[in-house]
Parts: sequence; structure tokens; C-alpha cells
Amino acid sequence: MGFAGRDLISINDFTNEEIEAVLELADEMNSALEKGERIEICQGKDMATLFYEPSTRTRGSFERAMHKLGGTVVSFPEAQTTSSVAKGETIADTVRVLESYADIIVIRHPWEGAAKVAADYAKVPIINAGDGGHEHPTQTLCDLYTLKKGKGKIRGLAVCLWGDLKYGRTIHSLIYALARFGTEVFCAPVQGLGLPEAVLRKLHSEYDYVPKKVKGDDLRSMMGEVDALYISPFKPYNLPLWPDLDVVPFIDREALRNADALYVTRVQTERRGEDDQRAQESHPTVNAKLLKEFKKKTLVMHPMPRVNELAYELDNYPRSVYFQQAAYGVPIRMALTALLLGASQIEVPRKDSFLPRKTAYSRYKEAISVKCPNPNCVSRHESRYIVPKFEMLNEEPLTLRCVYCEHEIHPPYIASSEWHHGLMLEDKKYHSADSHWLRKIKPENLIIFDSEEEARAKGFRPSKYVTAPR
Ligand code: NCD
Repeated sequence: MGFAGRDLISINDFTNEEIEAVLELADEMNSALEKGERIEICQGKDMATLFYEPSTRTRGSFERAMHKLGGTVVSFPEAQTTSSVAKGETIADTVRVLESYADIIVIRHPWEGAAKVAADYAKVPIINAGDGGHEHPTQTLCDLYTLKKGKGKIRGLAVCLWGDLKYGRTIHSLIYALARFGTEVFCAPVQGLGLPEAVLRKLHSEYDYVPKKVKGDDLRSMMGEVDALYISPFKPYNLPLWPDLDVVPFIDREALRNADALYVTRVQTERRGEDDQRAQESHPTVNAKLLKEFKKKTLVMHPMPRVNELAYELDNYPRSVYFQQAAYGVPIRMALTALLLGASQIEVPRKDSFLPRKTAYSRYKEAISVKCPNPNCVSRHESRYIVPKFEMLNEEPLTLRCVYCEHEIHPPYIASSEWHHGLMLEDKKYHSADSHWLRKIKPENLIIFDSEEEARAKGFRPSKYVTAPR
């Protein structure tokens, strides 16, 4: 399958072979840039950069990439105030207008799922440059390229993800890719900012992957003077797809010291909920003292910007590659842009065994009266035209995943739409989602409710199989 005309919303939109193809083309672009060669293969093409959140590296490197390719850029660096969004225009309308001025649109937005909505409405390729705390796939391409340049490979490496693993969108895209490339991942999150449940589940159910955790005691002793370090426990999970989620494997100190790369992230203060306010302060800064503990020539990576989590004293450390990582943004985004615009053509055969998604989930459009519970989901903000949609992950307990932001919900009540196919009105009843009715109702007839109030408001009455939600 070729790249021309496609979107990049999640890193999982590309197979491993496609990711490798982008990295190879980026490497060619990088060599050409180093030699000062001209690569103006996108002459006559226009890119729109639509950024509703601050950005230095991502927007800068996309725009530089397009200029290097000989194309032009229509730039909206503060789209929330300088575009018609300030007057209440929706994402769907904005991208449908912009597509007549641009052949490709790069969008960054604070709402999770915003890039998917843009892709659903625009005819031109959409690139997700970060959607809330969800994903940032082009940063992952830069990260993988940096790992490959620094270590010669990706498969078989051990990478420690450090910092805000909950809201860090670079982390989410990166961990999917690392899992798929067979990299060992150790998590060292700030207290309370461990990987979200939905990311853990997806790693497990779709990629058979369980990341490991760094033991708090080990990290504390490596840091010496740090007297309290708390590595967030994962929530107790009792979902059948992952029976032992509370038994997350730990790594020993020796394994951590052998990590090939330490990927440090800042706490995403702009996305922290009230529950997370107490986090962060006790997490150690990555500094020279900590790095002395690492046996190998561990690469120090950071998507940037940094705040206090990474000491300036490491800037001259030969293995600190964070500025290089940012510089690679130009050849990576050149390669991606050229491919999606069809200016460079690579056909990557899709091998079934390498398709990124293992599970084909059914889609629940019929899930009337269910809203995504994530307050930062685009479907909550642009409800004028977005119909909530979910994929069914699991039947017992009933688990749905929002197709926009990928948050999970466990709705408590269900009913069948068959009541209106000639049955008596008395049959318009709702049941608890954990009753035997879930197996009885055909998937195409399943109606799902967030609450009893919703069910009643839609004219349903409780059956005897209604119990209080657990
Ligand atoms: C990251 C982002 O925006 O998610 N920055 C980037 O694009 N390189 C990381 C961050 O903001 O912490």
C-alpha cells in the first residue's frame, strides 16, 4: 500500500514496515540536507499548519520541511485566536475551508480526537501534530529515528520512559511503536502519572505487550539522597482481558542500569486534573549523578521542552541527544510530507502478520445516550455535529472505547432496539449491563445507557434485571 493521500492520526496507522520506510527516506533526506543538496520535490504544493496549542519544534520543523521540499506554507500559529475559531467555527468547517488553500494540513489541538475529526472531514491528508494527551505520532518518528541513529537498531533495545506517562502524548505514541518493534520498555512515572488504563489495555490486547516498572526502592537508592520516591501503582484491574493487571512485572535495578535510552518527559501541567496536583515534586531530576549509575552508554532523550526534570549539566554529555532529536524533525517531516503528498512513492507490501491491529472490534453507532466520559474529548466539545461512536472492547464487563479519544467506558444499562420491531410496548425495558441480557441482545440491536435517567428519558422502564451499578 502506498502513502499518497493518507492521514497520520495515530502511530498505529502505519505498519512497522511503513514506519521503517519513512525512517529510510528521512535518512536519505538527512544526507542530502547535510550535503546541501536541493530536494524540491513538492514545488507547487501548499501545507497549512493549524496550531491551536503552543509549539516550537513541531511547527517549526514542519514548516522548514515544506520549505526545503520547495513547497509553501499557510501558517496559523495561534489558531484559537487568529482563525475563525475565535468566532465559534468548528474543526470540521475550518479544515473544509483550508483544504481549498492547502494540499496537506498539519493540526495540533488541545482536545483528544481533534485530528481524527479533521481527517474525517477533510479530503486532503491530515497529520496529527498532537491532540491533547492522546497521541503525537510524528514525534515518535523522530524518536525512533534518533534511537536508530544512536544505537543502530530499535528491536531488542531497552528504553526507560520517565516522567508524565499519563498525559504525555509523545509517550503514548512511542510506547505503541516500541511494543510493536520488540523493544523492552521500563516505566518510571511521576507519582500518579502512570500510563492510562486505555493505553495499557491496548498494549496488552492488541500487541500482547506488558511494559515493566522500575521499583521505587531501586530508583531511590540509585539517586542516593532522594528520600521519598513513589512510583505510581497501577490501578487494580479486574477486567477479563487482562486478569492480572495489578501484578505488573517489576524490573530489578541491574536491568534498569542496562537501559539503552532514558526518555525523559516534563509534567504536562496544562493537562493535569485535580487528582494529579500533588504529583511531580518528589520525582528525581535526571542529572549526572543518576546517569553515573547506568552501565551502558545510555542515550538521554527528551521530546522537549524541558522544565526541571532534566539537568542542564547533561547538555554536553556525549549521549545527550535531545537537541539532535529535535533537529531530526526536519528530515523526518520532509519524508512524511513527501510521501503523503505522493511526491515520493514507496509501495510497502502489507504483510498480514505485521498489521498493527490484532483485534478487529465492532463499532457501536447504536450506542444512543452514551457520551464519552472524557471531558477533553473532541466529541464533548463539538457535539453540534459529532455523534459519539464507540468500539466494543469486551462484553463482560461491557467495555466500550471512544473512537475519537480512545477512552474507555463501562456503561451500566442496556436495552434492545428490537422492541419496536412489532413487539409490545411493555417490552421497552432496560437491564443491567452485567445481566444475561448482554449475551441475549444481538450486537446490532444493542442500546446502551449511561444512567437510569437516560433510559427513562428515552421511554424505557426497568426490567427485573436492573441492579445498582457496581
Ligand atoms: C511535546 C508535545 O507537544 O507533546 N513537544 C513536542 O512536540 N516536541 C512534548 C511536551 O510538550 O512536553
